[in-house]
Amino acid sequence: MSHESITVSIAGTGSCLPDKTLTNADLAKIVDTSDEWITTRTGIKERRIAEGMSNSDLATGAGRQALENAKLEASDIDQIIVATVTPDTLMPSTAAYVQHKLGATKAIAYDISAACSGFLYAMQLAENAIKAGSAENVLIIGSEKLSSFVDWNDRTTCVLFGDGAGAAVISKGGEGAILATEIGTDGSQTEILKIPGGGSNCPTTASNIGDGLASIKMEGQEVFKHAVNRMKTAANSVIEKANLQPSDIAQVIPHQANLRIIDAISKRLDVDKDIVFVNLDRYGNTSAAAVAIALDEAQRADKFKRGDHIVLVVFGAGLTWAASAIRW
Ligand code: COA
Repeated sequence: MSHESITVSIAGTGSCLPDKTLTNADLAKIVDTSDEWITTRTGIKERRIAEGMSNSDLATGAGRQALENAKLEASDIDQIIVATVTPDTLMPSTAAYVQHKLGATKAIAYDISAACSGFLYAMQLAENAIKAGSAENVLIIGSEKLSSFVDWNDRTTCVLFGDGAGAAVISKGGEGAILATEIGTDGSQTEILKIPGGGSNCPTTASNIGDGLASIKMEGQEVFKHAVNRMKTAANSVIEKANLQPSDIAQVIPHQANLRIIDAISKRLDVDKDIVFVNLDRYGNTSAAAVAIALDEAQRADKFKRGDHIVLVVFGAGLTWAASAIRW
């Protein structure tokens, strides 16, 4: 069978959010901010914080739910790909912990690092592996424990992020199909969004931690501009590649970073705001997990049905971006 005739679909989705909620009012007790500022500038009202839970616990919870939704067993999975920038440990991969917790003994397991775009990077890898004949079912998981990498004294970043995980089983065949994917990286802009410390270039030392180097640094307005442009271009491109019109799309599921970014994209794509899924008010920006959680929630809320077309679109540090047009 040629690669072109193999179709690849999403067989099931899942998500896992920690119970602890941190509201804007709670944050106003920690840093000089207000519910009014956070709501008007970002749309975020609250976020979840993983207390007593690891990233791999969240990822395992989301993965287990995706398997149930796909009516598959852990033993059916050939690969587990965890997209994360907040791994349990630098070595081994978070995916290795997840493989063991799920009991998916047949699966090879590895992490990828593409920041907030990681889930769609993982989807592309899964699709390629299936089309190449090296896998039939791939569990992809976007999972983050960003609360461990936030500087809780920096009001310009700590209000933005949250913890959580989302997952999907990507399978050979099925009723739906991934129709088109657009994916890109611009490594000339690494400075505008990064965690400078903790890697081999700036190992974790007491002084680095003291200087706040082990937490997220961001030039918000620069990131904002790139995010709008890249997501608009990527989404338009997959809509065109899949031979669709904006009016054919039942649901757009964007990365959940800022409601103003989402609104700007809706306008530029010429789609009705009502078909653009938003849950960042409840979870904030959960990086690689965000679009995965949103996909799972949109699916469970019947925002689209079998045969409908949806578009996923993401953007993150790297810079990285991606979009996928999918027939459900
Ligand atoms: N509470 C109150 N005031 C705050 C604040 C907070 N939490 N954070 C920043 N401010 C202040 C700033 O200090 C600044 O004050 P000044 O004018 O006295 O200097 C003012 O608010 C405006 O800050 P600015 O950074 O210009 O705000 P903004 O409108 O650009 O919004 C972001 C900031 C971060 C919300 C916005 O730029 C953004 O969302 N960027 C993209 C982020 C993103 O998508 N990241 C992830 C990509 S994956």
